[in-house]
Amino acid sequence: MNLILLGPPGAGKGTQAKKISAKYNLPHISTGDIFRETVQNGSDLGKKLQGFMSAGALVPDEVVIAIVRERLTKPDTKNGFLLDGFPRTIAQAIALDKELEKIGKKISRVISLTVNEEEIVKRLSSRRVCISCGAAYNLMTQPPKKESICNECHGQVIQRADDNADTVRNRLKVYDTQTSPLIEYYTNSGVLSSVDGMKTVEEVFKNICAAIEK
Ligand code: AP5
Repeated sequence: MNLILLGPPGAGKGTQAKKISAKYNLPHISTGDIFRETVQNGSDLGKKLQGFMSAGALVPDEVVIAIVRERLTKPDTKNGFLLDGFPRTIAQAIALDKELEKIGKKISRVISLTVNEEEIVKRLSSRRVCISCGAAYNLMTQPPKKESICNECHGQVIQRADDNADTVRNRLKVYDTQTSPLIEYYTNSGVLSSVDGMKTVEEVFKNICAAIEK
């Protein structure tokens, strides 16, 4: 099963991806996570990526496509994969289709999570993440047990650099102009399922599973 999770920033892609990946035993491939790891390594590429991410802009297509192409050659993707945050432009979607065609695969289903802007701003302003293990928290719904300390690894829990109000506004604009056209692209390929992301995490997950197993 080859799945894509599509949705605006803060729609719950990362939250749901962890659950889908565990239930269906699929590798979770998040381009955002890959880029954040590269930034943490402090390499020249990491410095370049940080510039795009902290402005809420997209990393250039050719960089993203090369990274995903390489990731899809890893043996753990043999029986399927779950892409989170990729593709994000029509050019990325076309490149992915071509790549999959070469290896005799295609996208099984694209789950598009819908959440309104007010909820997105609320979720992202209260999101916190562990800088050591990446565990996600939310100050309103799921705070760490000890303030700023990760429940899992005791690492430091911080606000993501791109979760400030200005950057979130730009990320939303970028989603509308560059990523939302993918909804039509995948509707036309007959693989899109739209899921209401405003419900609880468990309800959203149940509806995603129903769409996958349809
Ligand atoms: P990326 O890391 O992919 O960020 P994003 O798409 O903006 O998504 P987020 O991680 O912010 O949100 P999410 O939908 O995963 O929500 P989450 O589950 O965390 O990308 C970051 C940057 O990298 C981009 O801006 C770009 O620069 C670059 N990049 C990445 N991929 C790229 C690509 N393909 N091309 C070019 N550039 C790329 O949930 C958010 C919060 O809400 C959490 O606190 C969570 O606890 C809470 N929450 C989740 N679900 C619910 C619910 N149902 N009810 C209540 N709260 C909930």
